[in-house]
Amino acid sequence: MTTDCDIFAHYGRADLLARLNAALREDGVDPDHPGMEVLAPYDHFHGRGLEATREMADLISAGASDHVLDVGSGIGGPARYVASRFGCRVTGIDLTPEFCDVARHLTRLLGLDDRVDFHAGDALAMPFADASFDGAYSMNVSMNVADKAAFYREIRRVLKPGAWLALSEVAKGPGGDVEYPTPWAASARTSFLSTPEETRQGLLDAGFEVLRLHSSLEEALVFGARSRATVERGGKPPHRAAMLIHGEVAPDAMRNTARGLKDGRIVPIEVLARVPAGLRQPAGHAG
Ligand SMILES: C[S@@+](CC[C@H](N)C(=O)[O-])C[C@H]1O[C@@H](n2cnc3c(N)ncnc32)[C@H](O)[C@@H]1O
Repeated sequence: MTTDCDIFAHYGRADLLARLNAALREDGVDPDHPGMEVLAPYDHFHGRGLEATREMADLISAGASDHVLDVGSGIGGPARYVASRFGCRVTGIDLTPEFCDVARHLTRLLGLDDRVDFHAGDALAMPFADASFDGAYSMNVSMNVADKAAFYREIRRVLKPGAWLALSEVAKGPGGDVEYPTPWAASARTSFLSTPEETRQGLLDAGFEVLRLHSSLEEALVFGARSRATVERGGKPPHRAAMLIHGEVAPDAMRNTARGLKDGRIVPIEVLARVPAGLRQPAGHAG
């Protein structure tokens, strides 16, 4: 059985902040005074990094008075981006305590700690009251979650009627078994991919309306080709979060991802869903 410890072991690194600071110095950046742009190659830990976060934010309709939930917030790049772009409040929750520590540190340095906070905890049992949030998003987290029904139900529980949910995830494609390691899992033991249709059905079963489900495979292939070309010209890749977090395992993980996209073993998807306005929790729903 997978335990939370398997997930910590995959993501957690006691020396994460030291490694980030060293990488920033190498980029010519003072780690005590980083800007949001210079952190972006490191703190958006999902396929296509900041580019994908921007596209997710283009889909949502957050207002300045909203309180938004980031499920599986990592080291906080997406939360800080969303808070800055919309002027809203963002609360992140993540299973990996080291990520929450680094997320809080970076948020303080960027002066956003009055509006962006992080909790160490499990997305399947969040310490938030029912109907607390105006919207939620989750970027590349569900691949680590075996019980997707419980995941969607728990997000649904903490959202207000009419609230939106944006999901980015790596879905299972028709091209065969995934090769490991990947950026989200060292082995099949902590990897739980759904097909796009299973994701749609899971959200419907949890009481969401699905407004949009889009494959971003083309965008991922173009981004990958552009990154490889930059590296061949001697530049740094635009997205360096996997290197930061996984170190020596990262090249294999990224190669498996690139091959998986090309062979159709995996397909990145972006989903926009909504809690129907004015509806109560579905019958039998944990309150
Ligand atoms: C690939 S990282 C993405 C981080 C962040 N969403 C981002 O895009 O920068 C996946 C994250 O999901 C978190 N995670 C996995 N399972 C979780 C769970 N059950 N509850 C909360 N966080 C979880 C991991 O700790 C990790 O930070």
